[in-house]
Amino acid sequence: MDRILITGGQPLSGTIQISGAKNAALPLMTCGLLTDDRLTLTNVAKLADLATMAELLAQHGLDIFRDGRTLSLGGRITNTEAPYDIVRKMRASILVLGPLLARTREARVSLPGGCAIGTRPVDLHLKGLEAMGAVIKLDGGYIDATAPTGLHGANIVFPFVSVGATENLLMAAALATGVTTLKNAAREPEISDLAACLIAMGAKIEGAGTDSITIEGVKTLHGAQHDILPDRIETGTYACAAAITGGRIFLQNARIETLGAVITSLAEAGIEITEQDNGFWVNRKNGLHGIDVTTEPFPGFPTDMQAQFMALMSVAEGASMVTETIFENRFMHVPELNRMGARINAVGASAIIRGVPHLSGAPVMATDLRASVSLVLAGLAAKGETTISRVYHLDRGYESVEQKLAACGAKIERI
Ligand code: UD1
Repeated sequence: MDRILITGGQPLSGTIQISGAKNAALPLMTCGLLTDDRLTLTNVAKLADLATMAELLAQHGLDIFRDGRTLSLGGRITNTEAPYDIVRKMRASILVLGPLLARTREARVSLPGGCAIGTRPVDLHLKGLEAMGAVIKLDGGYIDATAPTGLHGANIVFPFVSVGATENLLMAAALATGVTTLKNAAREPEISDLAACLIAMGAKIEGAGTDSITIEGVKTLHGAQHDILPDRIETGTYACAAAITGGRIFLQNARIETLGAVITSLAEAGIEITEQDNGFWVNRKNGLHGIDVTTEPFPGFPTDMQAQFMALMSVAEGASMVTETIFENRFMHVPELNRMGARINAVGASAIIRGVPHLSGAPVMATDLRASVSLVLAGLAAKGETTISRVYHLDRGYESVEQKLAACGAKIERI
């Protein structure tokens, strides 16, 4: 099995090209189920999770062509079942539920089941679809959903913010009869990107990017071309790579306005950020200060940046506290970082990090996507060699991670 070997201690310097966002591409690909016409997506990263989504959509009947960074989806739905074997690999598979129901009035989707970062139920997706007229039964580990008279508009108030539920209902509502309102909707940039694509396909949507979205259903959607926004989590991760190594990196194509609290937190920790037309510079000139962060829905500090920021704080001056409010059990990186010499004490939803002058290389194990990249960051800053095993987690969401870092002077290779 592949491992990543890092010899730490090199300040990174150079340019990193930011890829298209994984978490935008996943729902955008499922929009291929909403029309028989061709949907063409550009700026599509080469990632294992997107290959999994393509596999899922292909078995629903879509034909999918990839040419470099362009992905084209089209064709008719021939099968409305999303099988356990694919869904268990990736929770985002649940995003086919809304489009399948809206389009064919039936869907059978495996329940995503447990996951390394907490229980992650899908009740908000199901309740929202029920409010729109779906009849849902849970049977043998599957969600059996039908909409005998089609989906209709509804007023849906989410009890808390869910990115996936907002996306699923947005897509379903685009083809429902009448008007749907989503209150307390997620405001993540990926939601605005999804809405922009749906609008290009003929949907009538207002308010995406705010917590109140109104969708007036249309009878059919048509093909379109859509350019996927740059990945804000990849951007934030490489910003932390510059910061943790005391380096200076230009993040090309990065969009600062999609980073929310990540930018203010980096600045507060002493990192210099300089915006340019096509990206921004991240530069650690002086010391790094420990600061506190709490994960929140956008524009708050993203849970998907929590592990990387904790790696950064482990070498900051003074103490910091990281509080995780979105997912339970998302501190699996803590024992691994501690094996590298970090001083982190996690109790409940908070972790206290006492900064150390340096980390030391060690063999460590990746447990999930963002945890694994936090170990890469720690390895880049550590004295000596770090080997990271189970790197398939990394390949789910980071494109060419070794090449991008090596081009900035990191000593990193896959073995
Ligand atoms: C998406 C992102 C993921 C990110 C997360 C939070 C994708 C493919 N994944 O995941 O990387 O970490 O947003 O920003 O875009 N919840 C329920 N019931 C539901 C739905 C969610 O209780 O029906 C809970 C979850 O367990 C979690 C919280 O709500 O505690 C937020 O989850 P949600 O925003 O739905 O995350 P995902 O869409 O799964």
